[in-house]
Formats: sequence, C-alpha cells, structure tokens
Amino acid sequence: MIFPRLRNAIAFGGDYNPEQWPESVWQEDVRLMREAGVNLVTVGVFSWARLQPSEKRFEFGWLDRVLDLLAANQIGVCLATATASPPPWLTARYPEVLPVTADGVRLQVGARQNYSPSSRVYRKFASALVTKMARRYARHPALVTWHINNEYACHVPECHGPDSTRAFRAWLKKKYGSLAALNNAWGTAFWSQGYGQWEEIFTPSRAPYHSNPTQCLDFKRFTNDAFLELYDLELAILRRATPDIPVTTNFMGFFKALDYRSWSSRLDYVSWDSYPDPSDESAARRAAAAGHDLMRSLKPDRPFVLMEQAASAVNWRPVNMPKRPGVMRLQSLQAVARGGDGVMFFQWRASRAGAEKYHSGMLQHVAAEDSRVFAEVKALGSELKKLGVVTGSLVRNRVAIAFDWHAWWAVELESKPGRIDYAAWAQQLHAWFYAQNLGVDFVHPSADLSRYELVVAPALYLLNEKDGGNLQSFVERGGTLLATYFSGVVDEMEHAVCGGYPAYLRQALGLWVEEWVPYPEGRSNRFRFGRARADHRCDHWCDLVHLDGAQALAVFTGDYFAGRPAATRHHYGKGAAYYLATRPDAAGLDVLLSQVIKEVRLAPPLRVPAGVEVTVREAADAQFLFLLNHTNEPAKIALGLTRGHDLITGRLLSGTVQLPPCDVQVMRLPLK
Ligand code: GAL
Repeated sequence: MIFPRLRNAIAFGGDYNPEQWPESVWQEDVRLMREAGVNLVTVGVFSWARLQPSEKRFEFGWLDRVLDLLAANQIGVCLATATASPPPWLTARYPEVLPVTADGVRLQVGARQNYSPSSRVYRKFASALVTKMARRYARHPALVTWHINNEYACHVPECHGPDSTRAFRAWLKKKYGSLAALNNAWGTAFWSQGYGQWEEIFTPSRAPYHSNPTQCLDFKRFTNDAFLELYDLELAILRRATPDIPVTTNFMGFFKALDYRSWSSRLDYVSWDSYPDPSDESAARRAAAAGHDLMRSLKPDRPFVLMEQAASAVNWRPVNMPKRPGVMRLQSLQAVARGGDGVMFFQWRASRAGAEKYHSGMLQHVAAEDSRVFAEVKALGSELKKLGVVTGSLVRNRVAIAFDWHAWWAVELESKPGRIDYAAWAQQLHAWFYAQNLGVDFVHPSADLSRYELVVAPALYLLNEKDGGNLQSFVERGGTLLATYFSGVVDEMEHAVCGGYPAYLRQALGLWVEEWVPYPEGRSNRFRFGRARADHRCDHWCDLVHLDGAQALAVFTGDYFAGRPAATRHHYGKGAAYYLATRPDAAGLDVLLSQVIKEVRLAPPLRVPAGVEVTVREAADAQFLFLLNHTNEPAKIALGLTRGHDLITGRLLSGTVQLPPCDVQVMRLPLK
C-alpha cells in the first residue's frame, strides 16, 4: 500500500492552489471535493512567496487553515515543499540564484522554476523553508504524503552560471581524481583540448563548433546529479521529521534531462505527470501507455501514482483541444490498468489569472452544476471508490525494452552520422507490443533480466562491456534478444569501440557491423524476408552487416548494399538473438516481431478487437483484468473460459460481452 493513510483507496484529487482564491471559496472547494469523492489534494506547489513573503518573515497561518479545513473534511494532503519557484525577493537580493542558459542568458524572475540547481543560496533558502514546513506539519492529521519540489528540470534542464561551473569542476574532480584521467576520458588529444588546471574547464556552453562529446555527456550526468542533490537535501529533512510519511517528486515520463532510474531508489513511490495530446487520441493512448510503463518500471514492485493529468484541455500547446466526453475517464482508468494506484489532476480549480487560466481544472470557470467536465470528474470519483481492491496489485510482464538515459544522452549529442530520436524509436517498438496487448517493462541493460523472455534493445548506442555481457548471458541462458541498428557503438566514455559493432553483443548476435548508411528525410530503401514475394519499405538508417554465424531473415533489395542482411537471427547458448539493421515500415516490423513473439510463445491475456486495451494486475489472492475500449464502436469480446465480476457494475461477466465505445470493464478473476 503506498498511502497507508488512505487505506485501500485509489488516490483521487489534484493540485489545489487555495492561495489563488479568497477564503470564502475554500468552503465551496471542500464541499465539491467531497461531492466528487476527492481524498487527496496536492497543496503548496507554488506557494513559496506566500509562505515566506520576505527573507525574515514566514506566514503559515493560511496554510494551517487550509490543512485544518481539509482534515476536518477527511481530505488527505499531498504536501508540496514549495521550493519549485523561488519568490521575487530572493532572486532580487541574490541574483546568482537565477539560472544561465548555454548562451549566457540569465533567466529572469516572472515565470517559474527560476533557480540554478547548483546555487548555494537557493539550497540554503530551500532547506530553511522545508525545515520549517516539516516541523510544522509533521503531525498534521491531513498529511498523507510529501511532494518534493515540482517537475525538476522541466523548464531549466541545465545551467551554465558560476555556481554550476564551480560544481561541475568539483563533480569532475570526484569522478576522475586526476586531470590525466579526465584528459584520457574526454579524448582531449583531439583538437588541442588538453587541460592542465581544473579552473580551465567550463560547462559546455556555446562554443565555436561541436563541443567535446564526453564533456557534454559528463555535463548531462553532472546536471542530473545536481538536481538529485536538491531532492536528497529535502528528502533528508523530511525523513528526520516524518520517517513514516511517504515521499515522492513528480516525474515527467520520457523526460530526457533526468535519468529517473538513478532517482527511483530515493522515492517511496513513483509519481508522474501525463499530458497526451487530445487532438490525436490514438497517439495519446499509445504515448500514455508507454509513459505509464516506463514510470512503473522504475519501481516495478510498487504501484505508481498519476500525479497530474488534465481534466480536459491544457494551455501550453499551440492549439489545445479539450478531451471529448469519456476520454478523461478512459485515460484515468488506463493509468490504473497499467499499475497506477492514484489518479490526480492538475488542477482542482482552474485559475482566474496567470498563464494557466485556460488550462482545464476539475472545476472549470463555470459553475460546478453546469459543467460537463465536473460531472465526469464526479462520476470518475465514484467509480474509483469501487476499484479500491486493486490497490497494491502489480503488473508483471515478460517483455522488456532496454532503455538507458545515458545511451539516450549520448546518441543525441551532435556530430553523429545521422539523427536518432532515441525515445521515439523505443516508443515505436513499444507501440507494436501495446497494439498486441503484450505488456512491456523498461529496464536498464544491467538489470536482472531473469523474469523476462524477450528483451528489445532499440539503438542502444552506448553500451559498456559489463552491460553487454549481461544481455549476452541473458541470451545464453535461454532468453531472446532483439537489438536494433546503431547499438553498442561506444562505451561509457563515448569512445568508439573498435573491431566491429555492436562490440559487446557481437557474439550473441553472430554478426558485425562495418558501417552504416543513414538516410535523409524522404530517402528510403526496401528489404525482403526470405522467399516472400513482396518487399517492405525501410528508411532512416541501414547498418551494413557481416554475418558471423547468424542467418539473414531479410535482405535489403536496393542501394549499393542490396543483398546484405536487414534482419537476422542467431542461436546462442540456449537462446536466440535477433538484429534489425534498419527502420522498417509497419508491415515489415509486424512480420519480424510476429516471428519473434511466436518463437518466444508470448500471447496477450485475451484476444480482443483492435483498439481494445487489455491488461492484468496481480494480487496475492486475485487477478484483475482490465478491458478498455478506445474505439468509437462497441467491441465484442469473447471471454472464453474467463469469468468474473465487473468491479464497476457488479455484473458477472462471461461468454461474449459487449464493451461500448470509450467504456471500461475491470474484472476480478479468481486465481488460477
Ligand atoms: C505541469 C506542472 C503544473 C502545471 C501543468 C500544466 O507541468 O507541474 O504545475 O503547470 O503542467 O499542464
């Protein structure tokens, strides 16, 4: 159970910013929260200026009243530490707190997140504020969980100011110990970059030409660590005051700047913010599913919390479509279906002023009783109450995608043969499994892979010997690996591995790659499987492969390398390793992946019509089968031998059931 104080209820509520409203509105807020079944609200995220209006003055009275009011109404609080946006007095007095971009521009006060992660002054003031909050609210009956800061690095993914430069040097000294080691790792013999003093080193800001790639990669690692230090600083304070209150910070899914995997052990549970674009519903459900899977995989043995989503439209895309009726519910239950124990929103009441006034809220600008969105919120709240029994149950998958933030950072640095969108490629492969209702986790290549049958490694460009060894021994012991083009090209220093790529996977794959042909937009090639009559289109990238034991499943049919392998398979130990040397069209990918899952004998929990999502959550004494109809047509679902009660309607479901458009069924199944 992630929230002992909510007992077995799914967390339901949203960001609550009462400081934006007169106190007379608060009474109405809690009345409507109760009406909607809200049991948790996130308070204080952007309230630093209200809590500390000047350097020496703190004003907690209003927050005391908010928390007391919520407690009196049995509404729990996810208490934010308010450090996400330093108040204007702080940055006016200590401008060194402000972050500096790679171009040397100091980002001014007036929006939010205006601090450098390495600012000593910011750290001092943030610690003082958090210490006061922790002491004051440690025993407050409304306190359910702590919410540290907010979406770290979202707007300021890096800083090049003086504090950052100083901290970067200290980080490098600690990592390398000597300049000789640093010069070696950074390959500074190239272009006369050898460093003789630590003070000669700067963050990789604007330079005349490509900056040193290892320096850039280290800067990304350093920046991740700098943000993590901020989190740790607050965490230590909270732990001292409230060792039993769970702590989180809200992640952002496929967010490049932070290696969330390095954070996950410090969070009591993973929470994240999901904002798929309603203008393309099928892309939205794929994106949300991949996000839930990535986030859940960071702590696979605990449910996660959807900390923020929009009740309808957001305000920050060029065009912001609302969610049409039913979609908010469907997406909320999708989060639960994929392992979520909380369905939260940004925000409770849509703001009247400021940059987010056109962002939907659970309460819109119109009266609650006149609001379509609020009616849907209320309906969802009452349904979630019936789903409390699923809390604590887990999603268990047999397929994993190897996904590594360091590989992501490295492959997208400049000066590469072509452009690879690492996360998009991983999500494209995920989408195939999603469409088949085959559950997927995301793992680090060094992870214990014993629970998986199949591991897919998309463009795992940076791969060290140890992690390559881990993937190879997974195959040796009977697993199936599918690696794709541009994998295993560099080690962790971003130095090319000589002697044929993908260096540390060569044995398992039974091949080596000599060179590659990246294509510009609009250029493509074709490839053909075995004796198939039709061929398939491929684009973006072609690896020129030499077989060394593997068998070609498909070959390119065009360009100067026609006849060379486009997809291969190799027996290795007790397992098999596939290689995909290009980016195929949908049909070509389908041929290959269908063969792979047939060999691995993977099947979805239930065969359903396209557009219906099926997942299973497992508890000690039951299984929960989720069926979500994402289409605009009713779906006929043959349950076969599966029978069980729908937790939402209470009906016993068996035989063939009709699932209306946008509708969801959650069946409790007895354990087999
Ligand atoms: C999130 C943020 C919220 C709000 C929301 C709007 O990124 O945490 O404070 O700005 O976006 O969609």
